[in-house]
Amino acid sequence: MNAVATPLLELKGISKSYGHIEALTQADFDIRPNEVVGLLGDNGAGKSTLVKIMSGVEFPTSGKIFRDGKPATIRSRKDSERLGIETIYQDSALVGSASIMRNFFAGRELTKGPGLLDMQAMNAIVMDQLLNTVKIAGIDSPDILVETLSGGQRQAVAIARAVYFKTAMLLLDEPTSALSVRETDKLLAHLGELKADGVSAVFITHNLYHAYESCDRFVILSRGRVIRSLTREETTVRELNDIIVKN
Ligand SMILES: Nc1ncnc2c1ncn2[C@@H]1O[C@H](COP(=O)(O)OP(=O)(O)O)[C@@H](O)[C@H]1O
Ligand SMILES: [Mg+2]
Repeated sequence: MNAVATPLLELKGISKSYGHIEALTQADFDIRPNEVVGLLGDNGAGKSTLVKIMSGVEFPTSGKIFRDGKPATIRSRKDSERLGIETIYQDSALVGSASIMRNFFAGRELTKGPGLLDMQAMNAIVMDQLLNTVKIAGIDSPDILVETLSGGQRQAVAIARAVYFKTAMLLLDEPTSALSVRETDKLLAHLGELKADGVSAVFITHNLYHAYESCDRFVILSRGRVIRSLTREETTVRELNDIIVKN
């Protein structure tokens, strides 16, 4: 079914140069409905550059982007948000010195009239999301500053936000590198729950076991080029490892 569905997002012939360095060369990539894509490749392969292009942090030198088959332009984070794309980096892109609630609604605040924030409604939503959707232990107030949270708790806040705002695609660039083993387990479980909720995801990790456990399909980059795309059914951890090491 996935093979015939129009991709949620399709990138065609994407190249990106930084001066003399070509970080991406004619890369094709897509995200389909209801799938978790593992974006794999050694250091410097171009994975983060591809994520930055999809989230509007970087702009491609050439290439085309389509959302639901229609041409789209992503020049800023606002653009990517509007297309239903949210990104979680290693540090989760939250503002440490602001509260959980302010981070949750950043740029999408609820109001009850011109210039009047509806704090009560926003606080209630945040607590409901944290307690019932991502079930973060130890958070009892939306006013807690993000800088006091653990890495796993921060990721959970970012995931709760993505779920609440009905993100269509969640991009996770090495989200587990700063997490404990237990927090990593929880994040991988969240990925499965997100998919059940209809959120597709792109998951970058160096841990091929984690990738294999959570992803439906793997796209392998090597020196800026997409060299393979394989479904989980047609490959193994060992083969993924060999492809990455030998290219
Ligand atoms: N802002 C930048 N300026 C110059 N070179 C960059 C920049 N960002 C990435 N690169 C280069 O582009 C290539 C791909 O990097 P990156 O996308 O970060 O790879 P990955 O995430 O797969 O490790 C690397 O050679 C990297 O050094
Ligand atoms: Mg990277």
